[in-house]
Amino acid sequence: MQNENKTTKGFLVTFEGIDGSGKSTQIKILEKNLLDRNFKVLLTREPGGTYEGEEIRKILLSEDKKYEWDSLSELLLIMIARREHYLKVLLPAIQNGTIVLCDRFLDSTVAYQCGGNKLSKDIYNNLSSLVLKKFLPDITILLDLPVEESYNRIQKRGILNKFDSYSIDFYQNVRDEYLAIAKKNTRVKLFNALSSKDYLCKEILDVILKKIQNDI
Ligand code: TYD
Repeated sequence: MQNENKTTKGFLVTFEGIDGSGKSTQIKILEKNLLDRNFKVLLTREPGGTYEGEEIRKILLSEDKKYEWDSLSELLLIMIARREHYLKVLLPAIQNGTIVLCDRFLDSTVAYQCGGNKLSKDIYNNLSSLVLKKFLPDITILLDLPVEESYNRIQKRGILNKFDSYSIDFYQNVRDEYLAIAKKNTRVKLFNALSSKDYLCKEILDVILKKIQNDI
C-alpha cells in the first residue's frame, strides 16, 4: 500500500542556468528523490506551466522566422505567462503543502532579458511587482557553466529553440548576470555544472531536505 504523503510547508524551488547546464536532468532527479520520500511534489516550467502559458511559450521560442519579437514585447509575453502560472499553479500548490519545482523562473528573465537583451531593470522590476507582488522562490538552484561548454553541449544535442542560436556574447552576459544574482541573494545556491551528475543530485537533495527539516 502506498504511504500517505508526508506533510511539509509548501515552497518553491527554482532551477536556473544557461542552456545546456543540465538543469532539466537535475530537476527530474530531484522530483524522483522527493516522490520516493513521499513528499507532495509538482514539476512545472517557465515560460509555460498553464495552458495559456504553454501557448505563449510556443510563439516565444519558435524558430519560425515569421515571429520577430521586439525585446520589450518578448518581456511582456513572458510576464503574461508568469502571471497565469503564479495565480493558477504556483500559489495554490504552495498553499496546499506542495514542494513546487520550477524549471526557470524570474532569475531567467533578469539574466536573459536584462543581462542578455539589455532591457532596463527598472522596467522589469515594475512589471514584476505588478505580476508577482513580493513573491519570490524560497530556494534557487543555479547550475553555472562556462559559456564555451554550454556552446559545445548545445551543438552536440542540436538547437532546440530560438535562444539556442544566440551569440556567445549574449550567453556571456546571461552567465555574468546569473552570477551577480547569486552574489546578491542568499536564496540562490550556486553549483558548478561541470561537477558529476551524481554529486550534483546528492548536493541538491541535501539543500532541499535541510529546508524541509527547518520548516517542520
Ligand atoms: P528551457 O526550456 O529551459 O530551454 P533549455 O532546455 O534549452 O535550457 O528555456 C527556454 C528558453 O527560454 C531558454 O533559452 C531561456 C528562455 N527564457 C527567457 O529568455 N526568459 C525567461 O524569463 C524564461 C523563463 C526563459
